[in-house]
Amino acid sequence: MIDGKKVLFSGMQATGNLTLGNYLGALKNWVNLSDEYECFYSVVDMHSITVRQDPSELRQRARKLLTLYIAAGLDPKKNCIYYQSHVSGHAELAWILNCFTYMGELNRMTQFKDKAAKHADNINAGLFTYPVLMASDILLYQSDVVPVGKDQLQHLEITRDIAQRFNAIYGDIFTIPEPFMGKAGANIKSLQDPSKKMSKSDENTNASIYLMDDPDTVIRKFKRAVTDSEAQVRYCEEQPGIRNLIEIYCACTGKTPEETEKEFDGKGYGDFKLAVGESVADILKPLQARFEELSRDKAYIDNVIKENADKANYYAMKTLRKVQKKIGFPERIR
Ligand code: TYM
Repeated sequence: MIDGKKVLFSGMQATGNLTLGNYLGALKNWVNLSDEYECFYSVVDMHSITVRQDPSELRQRARKLLTLYIAAGLDPKKNCIYYQSHVSGHAELAWILNCFTYMGELNRMTQFKDKAAKHADNINAGLFTYPVLMASDILLYQSDVVPVGKDQLQHLEITRDIAQRFNAIYGDIFTIPEPFMGKAGANIKSLQDPSKKMSKSDENTNASIYLMDDPDTVIRKFKRAVTDSEAQVRYCEEQPGIRNLIEIYCACTGKTPEETEKEFDGKGYGDFKLAVGESVADILKPLQARFEELSRDKAYIDNVIKENADKANYYAMKTLRKVQKKIGFPERIR
């Protein structure tokens, strides 16, 4: 709790171009939570280096992502928006938690298996212990809730296990976090292969909608989206392509799958795909405009970066000092 409010933490990697999956599964749901929660949103640049990055590109992407958080509607006066690498407590706590995490647990992580297969020439220890750094992000702020897409649930589960294990030994040190998912959009699939998630790293650029895609590109990609042969707009397991498009449409318009089925009853896939494309273009337009405007205001963004890092450091240090004391590190002499 901070000032009587529950704490919320989430983060995104500054790797690749953000997709509609990132937006609908996470960012969009982050907005308007700051009245109820004390919110921390990190640009997790330390996570990004588990795969090789070009340094200047990483720096630029991190700044763009931080700007995008604000463009999406997060007021930096009410939400702590900061770079993970500016708060050293993340790495310090991660080391401690590494000593409370088992190799067997990390071996079971599906994201590790996927990434190790993709980057067979660079299966580094950071990639393996990635979930421990993620646990430290969350536990450092004593977070109660963590809004994420479905692909991150396994990491949240291991975070809870590590926290419970630590608490069982040292007493109630960490708050046990709960995941939080939006009504629609927690699992947006590739437009070219609905058995896979929409991903920043997909080589086929038609498979993902990027947040900076212009309206024509968005509509073209939806027109090309893989669908099924039943020619009916129905939300069911047997039609994964259409189901994904319905999911996207609902997340963008606030409609339910039943309302969507009714709206497109008797209409063809062409009409439906166009409507989905337009609904996406409509939500991206204001986001892109605000992003461009904010990007021009260097001093404002610099100030957000500085002030929020100070705030995050303050809360991070509180937890870190408590943990260090509990495990028996000598106290500092002032
Ligand atoms: P990342 O950067 O891959 O994704 C950021 C957020 O977007 C969600 N997401 C999706 N949601 C729905 N459909 C999709 N196709 C889709 N693709 C991505 C993710 O679930 C995530 O919420 N390890 C995390 C970053 C992280 C983090 C944390 C998150 C580091 N520390 C602490 C929460 C709390 C990651 O790589 O997310």
